[in-house]
Amino acid sequence: MRAMKFDFSDKNAELGELYPQHLETVRKRHDHALEQAGAAHAVIFSGAPKYAFLDDHDYPFRPNPHFVSWAPLIRLPLSYIVYTPGEKTVLIYYQPHDYWHPVPGAPDGYWTAQFDIRVVHNVDDVAEHLPEDRDRCIAVGEFDDDAHAFGIDRVNPTTAVNILHYARGPKTAYELACMRLASRRGVAGHLAAAAAFRDNMSEFAINQAYCEATRHIDNELPYSNIIALNEHGAILHYTDLDREAPVELRSFLIDAGAQVHGYASDITRTYGNGDTQFAELIERMETLELDLVSRVKAGVDYRDLHLETHKLIAGVLVDSDLAMGNAETLLATGVTSAFMPHGVGHLLGVQVHDVGGFMENESGATIDPPSGHPYLRLTRVLEEDMVLTIEPGLYIIDMLLENLRGTPAETHVNWNTVDQLRPFGGVRVEDNVRVLADGCENLTRDAFAELL
Ligand code: GLY
Ligand code: MN
Ligand code: MN
Repeated sequence: MRAMKFDFSDKNAELGELYPQHLETVRKRHDHALEQAGAAHAVIFSGAPKYAFLDDHDYPFRPNPHFVSWAPLIRLPLSYIVYTPGEKTVLIYYQPHDYWHPVPGAPDGYWTAQFDIRVVHNVDDVAEHLPEDRDRCIAVGEFDDDAHAFGIDRVNPTTAVNILHYARGPKTAYELACMRLASRRGVAGHLAAAAAFRDNMSEFAINQAYCEATRHIDNELPYSNIIALNEHGAILHYTDLDREAPVELRSFLIDAGAQVHGYASDITRTYGNGDTQFAELIERMETLELDLVSRVKAGVDYRDLHLETHKLIAGVLVDSDLAMGNAETLLATGVTSAFMPHGVGHLLGVQVHDVGGFMENESGATIDPPSGHPYLRLTRVLEEDMVLTIEPGLYIIDMLLENLRGTPAETHVNWNTVDQLRPFGGVRVEDNVRVLADGCENLTRDAFAELL
């Protein structure tokens, strides 16, 4: 593996070149949101630290994703962006006098030229930098404490917020560049983790190898890593990390991402350890996943892609001798859903499950998932430059398979093969793709090709 030589900093020249155009897009969406909401100023709050009950320790800070869409400032609590159409955007940059915690440094990086930056050292000083007429403001963000809204009554008005959410579907060139970097960063971790698995390491040690290679600390990861050996692969959100390596290493499912300036990657790979039956299952799921990726293009209804996945999963179940019957029957009786009980993917961006996946339009109308598929998180028709995941999976989850007993599905399941594959947990393959007019760009596989 080559050493990672990518510039993730806010001095990255390519990001610096793309950022002004990105902000132009962000400003336009706010112009539209303000107009529709009948307001003159948008005040975007970065968020406040949250404290554990009866304690003075705060949880890891998760910034308001709308704030991060404006500026790559993911560790800047109690700060505000004030946007007024036609005026230079104000950034109220909170830099407390605090000797207990690290404080944000002086504003620095490619983003600074775009803002009229007001550094404040006391929360009380924020008020003087906000528009005087609070009635003409809307505030966007999470306000657990009313004091942080400084008298703005219109907090997250639906009309404006729906417009902002919907518009975040397709990504700007700057966002795509951040996400390509996030993919490379994640893939560097995946390669290190796969090597650690081959060295018979524990889940705990594999996670350390991942964090070391991505140069992330746990709190910066876009979601908690899923590092699952053997049957742990069947627990969809397995986030325990066993400290000891199992005596017998059979399989490894890793779902882990990285982020660059708040933009995430979300990548899954599954590895075997010599068992032919499991290797064949991985191979079939890999082929299935690539087949789905090849169907991604603008105009595709993602619900159809999800239902198509279930038909393909039926084929894999039959080829793997896990089930008997035609695809229609295996879908109708719930067999495919028992083996793949999650959606085939979701929007990705500044949130791992990016907002707006169910939105039919900017007015807030929603599109339901197909009946019987409540966990599908993306129901939109795909548009150019959306970034989404394709993540089919197949697992031995006894809780779900047992529900098939005593139903018409029972006779379609080959319970002996279920027993044989249970110790391997499951298989998931997850790529991040950018929708194009007539196909897609595979951020994940491009990154693997570059780093391998
Ligand atoms: N890692 C979370 C997901 O794949 O959706
Ligand atoms: Mn994932
Ligand atoms: Mn995902």
